[in-house]
Amino acid sequence: MWSSVAVVVPAAFLAGALMCLAAPAAAAARPTTLSVLSFGAAADGVTDDAEALVAAWRAACRVVVPRATVLLPPGHRFLVSPVTLQGPCSTRLTLQVDGALLAPPGMDSWPRSRRPLQWLNFKWLDGFTVQGAGTVDGQSITSLQDSSSPADASTGHWHSSGAKPTLVRFYSSFNVTVRNIRISNSPQCHLKFDSSGGIKVKNVTISSPGDSPNTDGIHLQNTRNVEIRSSNIGCGDDCVSIQTGCSNVHMKNLVCNPGHGISVGGLGKDNSLACVSDVVAENINVQNALYGVRIKTWQGGVGSVRNVTFANVRVANVGTPIAIDQFYCDRQGGARCANRSGAVAITGVAYRRVVGTYSFQPARLACSDARPCTGVSMVDVRLSPAAGTVAPPLCWNSYGEAAGTMEPLGVGCLQRSNGDAMPLNQPSNYTC
Ligand SMILES: *[C@@H]1O[C@H](CO)[C@@H](O)[C@H](O)[C@H]1NC(C)=O
Ligand SMILES: *[C@@H]1O[C@H](CO)[C@@H](O)[C@H](O)[C@H]1NC(C)=O
Ligand SMILES: *[C@@H]1O[C@H](CO)[C@@H](O)[C@H](O)[C@H]1NC(C)=O
Ligand SMILES: *[C@@H]1O[C@H](CO)[C@@H](O)[C@H](O)[C@H]1NC(C)=O
Repeated sequence: MWSSVAVVVPAAFLAGALMCLAAPAAAAARPTTLSVLSFGAAADGVTDDAEALVAAWRAACRVVVPRATVLLPPGHRFLVSPVTLQGPCSTRLTLQVDGALLAPPGMDSWPRSRRPLQWLNFKWLDGFTVQGAGTVDGQSITSLQDSSSPADASTGHWHSSGAKPTLVRFYSSFNVTVRNIRISNSPQCHLKFDSSGGIKVKNVTISSPGDSPNTDGIHLQNTRNVEIRSSNIGCGDDCVSIQTGCSNVHMKNLVCNPGHGISVGGLGKDNSLACVSDVVAENINVQNALYGVRIKTWQGGVGSVRNVTFANVRVANVGTPIAIDQFYCDRQGGARCANRSGAVAITGVAYRRVVGTYSFQPARLACSDARPCTGVSMVDVRLSPAAGTVAPPLCWNSYGEAAGTMEPLGVGCLQRSNGDAMPLNQPSNYTC
């Protein structure tokens, strides 16, 4: 009954009407569910339902019960223009996505001035859950082949970097759970956490074409205490990207296919300070990707990457399964990065049981001349070429130890080191 009325009655009126209905529920202290259909959503996949979503959100945010749920019911398609859904709320909120939540198609081709930085912008939340059997679809033409813009197609993703919207972003939010949903076809990064903490991502599916530029699966910056598990991520860039200010990040039971693998960095761009510590990625399956597990830093940065463990990594048809690149430079064509003496220090990186097939180079540890990598350990690495000609492993300024099975020959090419002698102990003005 509500949904049929909702089509003809103005949303504002309904929102008011529903607030009255919500009051008895609050008195009974029962969890409250507010369907966007009751707030005037057209649910036809064409009409903009942003107003209805925001109205339902605001009502739920004010409810005085332990929990309130904003429901996007199954069997409906909700097109929503870019919105901010913000707290703080008086209750623990759940956004239950059982239907399809759709971004306006081709959002990335909007004029620059009207292009949002993100589509669904969650901020200032504490104790929030997004879940459901539904989908969150960016409806973006992300594939290079499909792109109608010759500028993008000719210059690749370096040109368009940063200009396109992130699909779902959390800012300054804590105790957030994202589970079971499917997120697809973002113009850029799919799921981003910025300046947040206490994050759990579980059983999500992220999918975009392998050639869609800059479409990171999950992007973390300045975010602590993160658990990402049992998820399936396929995209055109990093599966999980861990940026500066992140610590205590656990990834477990992930499939990354296709994409660029799991990546810490790029850190230290434009001589900036970068700090990342205490990262574990275990039971990771990377397929059809440029890299497996990677740490990348720009020349000239300061700060450090410490205590990173990659364990039980299975690769299939991965270009370079093990990579540290302290000469990272993603500028294409003529604009090469200048050589600089400083670097974000990398210390304490463990690779345990990395097995499978590679298509370019089994391991490439290219560490800075000024600040070599220290405390690198490899235990049981068994990699074989997928096909064709491959490059031999490389270790440059990387110190540590290899143990157990090492295949191919030379993959554990680390230099033994006396920690005291390492340039890492040079005084630095910056501490993480
Ligand atoms: C994972 O998510 C899917 C899709 O929503 C759901 O069908 C399945 O039950 C979930 N699995 C678990 C273990 O929660
Ligand atoms: C998050 O949850 C924990 C434990 O459930 C709680 O102590 C804390 O206050 C919550 N909020 C923040 C901002 O950490
Ligand atoms: C390394 O990081 C992991 C994951 O956060 C943590 O459990 C462990 O205690 C850390 N080890 C050291 C020596 O800090
Ligand atoms: C940086 O140094 C490397 C190694 O010494 C050299 O091959 C390269 O040409 C230099 N790059 C630039 C942009 O100066």
